[in-house]
Amino acid sequence: MEYNMNSLKRALLLAVVAIFALAIMAACGAKDTKNGSASEPIDTGLPADTISNEAFKDLFPLQYESFNATKDMSDTKYGGSVPTSKFDQSKEPLLPILFNGYGFALEYNEDRGHVYANEDIEKIARINDKSFGSCLTCKSTAVPQLLKEENMGDKYWGANFRAEVLPAAKEMGHSPIGCSDCHDPQTMELRVTRPSFAKAMESQGIDISNPTKNQMRTYVCAQCHVEYYFEPEKKEVVFPWANGFKPEEMYEYYETVAKDQGFKSDWQHNISGAPMLKAQHPEFETVSTGTHGKNGVSCADCHMPYERSDGKKKVSSHNWTSPLKNIEASCRTCHADKTAEELKNNVESIQDTHKDALDKAEEISVSSHYYVNKMITAKAPAAKIAEAQELVRKAQWFWDIIAAENSTGFHNPQGAMDSLKMSSEYSSEAIILATEELVKLGVNVDELKAEIEKATKAVLAETDNFKKKDHATNTFFPAQQPPAAPAKK
Ligand code: HEC
Ligand code: HEC
Ligand code: HEC
Ligand code: HEC
Repeated sequence: MEYNMNSLKRALLLAVVAIFALAIMAACGAKDTKNGSASEPIDTGLPADTISNEAFKDLFPLQYESFNATKDMSDTKYGGSVPTSKFDQSKEPLLPILFNGYGFALEYNEDRGHVYANEDIEKIARINDKSFGSCLTCKSTAVPQLLKEENMGDKYWGANFRAEVLPAAKEMGHSPIGCSDCHDPQTMELRVTRPSFAKAMESQGIDISNPTKNQMRTYVCAQCHVEYYFEPEKKEVVFPWANGFKPEEMYEYYETVAKDQGFKSDWQHNISGAPMLKAQHPEFETVSTGTHGKNGVSCADCHMPYERSDGKKKVSSHNWTSPLKNIEASCRTCHADKTAEELKNNVESIQDTHKDALDKAEEISVSSHYYVNKMITAKAPAAKIAEAQELVRKAQWFWDIIAAENSTGFHNPQGAMDSLKMSSEYSSEAIILATEELVKLGVNVDELKAEIEKATKAVLAETDNFKKKDHATNTFFPAQQPPAAPAKK
């Protein structure tokens, strides 16, 4: 009896959900049916542990071809896939100051196509002989295999990147971000292969054991396009989501759960000596808390629109890149009331405003580091220095979690603005606190300001990206720790 009641309730609930979903789809005009949908299991005849993209080539030539189009390199106003250093004048030239003392001041590039992931991780100067396995987690199709007990199991995370993990992945015939990362090779159903994602969703009480197809169209991306850190014991990749997806909720996590685990910071800042956090590409968190995410629009809706490759058959584009390269298919399915030109202008005006606010937050953050450096050399009270360092850490988190996101504000314009505002406020508080102490100690604040400008100009004037970081400290602003190990390349 009770069983019947429950199944009746479930049927009713499903019907309501289905009607609701249909209404949403009808309202935004998205199409749902197509041939060969991954939601209907098929039998590929491939072994369960297939990890090479090439194994899928003859079965799914159109998706394979589309995937390989991520080789193309072309840019949009702010995004795109041409290899570009983030230190370039038109990007974020202050980063070598803001990440001083850390690998991210050495080399930090804009993202590009999935096919390059393994190549790019191997050659980036941030990877050295001490780097560990975790770094490969969002790049190679071998990772789920390496994590199996019969292979490396939990030792994978902390094993040496160059000596153990990369050779093992190559030996297995891995691909960069491949079919098997998102599809079950035997049935082609969408699947999540990175355990960190499932654990993190669980930590927030979100059940992902029975996801809808629409959720999977986001979850497959959310395995990698997220904020994470390496928990100190096993070096396991962990997403800091227990309190929520917003910048302030993740910050709270770092201040509590992560600190209790012994994870205090990613590095100590070379100028301010502050214990810093480095944020990473939180696309999923940002989209989820923005208008599109809240309306159930998935990553695939905008980044994998249907295309007709051979003139007839519709396939989901596997050429993940900027949707601005194909606004017609990426946006106009839902926004048919606007022309492609209008939509492009909408995006770019959001991005222009965003970039302006980001630059301002970074500028004031730079100043705050130097003010704290002066507090240290002028011998301000230790408690005051620590208080200012705390503000600097917090301020940088609130712009970095936005700067490290790859949509230049589009994924969540309001959320980004709120976070940048908080950042500027914390930086200002640090500067006010420092100024009070420096004035008490008789420090000439005008001279300090002039020295900040001089150091900043020296960084901007350096044309070799690898050397920019070296101009951030000088005799007036001495480094607070020995400089990071030199680049291997
Ligand atoms: C409503 C449409 C939309 C949705 C939904 C969406 N994006 Fe985007 N995404 C964009 C636009 C527009 C840009 C900016 C592209 C540019 O600047 O050229 C972008 C940029 C990006 C970039 C950087 C691309 C580049 O050219 O460097 C990445 C990575 C990305 N999105 C990943 C995701 C992920 C992962 C999700 C889901 C969690 C997602 N996006 C959801 C529209 C969308
Ligand atoms: C980053 C995740 C991801 C990767 C990697 C990936 N796919 Fe997909 N694939 C998807 C998503 C999302 C869909 C849309 C599923 C849906 O809406 O039902 C899809 C759909 C498909 C479909 C169903 C038909 C269609 O076009 O919608 C096939 C077949 C397919 N992919 C083959 C492949 C092959 C072959 C590869 C490797 C070359 C691959 N995929 C790599 C995410 C991925
Ligand atoms: C296994 C991890 C992984 C998965 C799964 C994944 N990505 Fe990525 N993605 C990456 C990495 C790593 C890069 C950067 C590669 C580089 O720069 O070498 C990237 C780059 C991108 C870019 C930038 C491309 C450009 O032209 O600048 C876009 C857009 C993107 N991903 C969207 C998506 C979407 C949408 C999904 C889900 C359908 C997805 N990714 C799934 C790891 C992943
Ligand atoms: C699957 C449907 C869907 C797709 C695809 C989609 N949108 Fe939207 N978009 C929506 C919905 C739903 C809203 C929110 C409803 C509203 O407030 O009007 C929205 C709101 C917006 C807004 C106003 C809110 C904001 O966040 O600023 C802009 C601008 C926008 N979309 C641009 C785009 C662009 C550009 C693309 C392609 C890159 C795109 N959309 C793709 C459904 C979609």
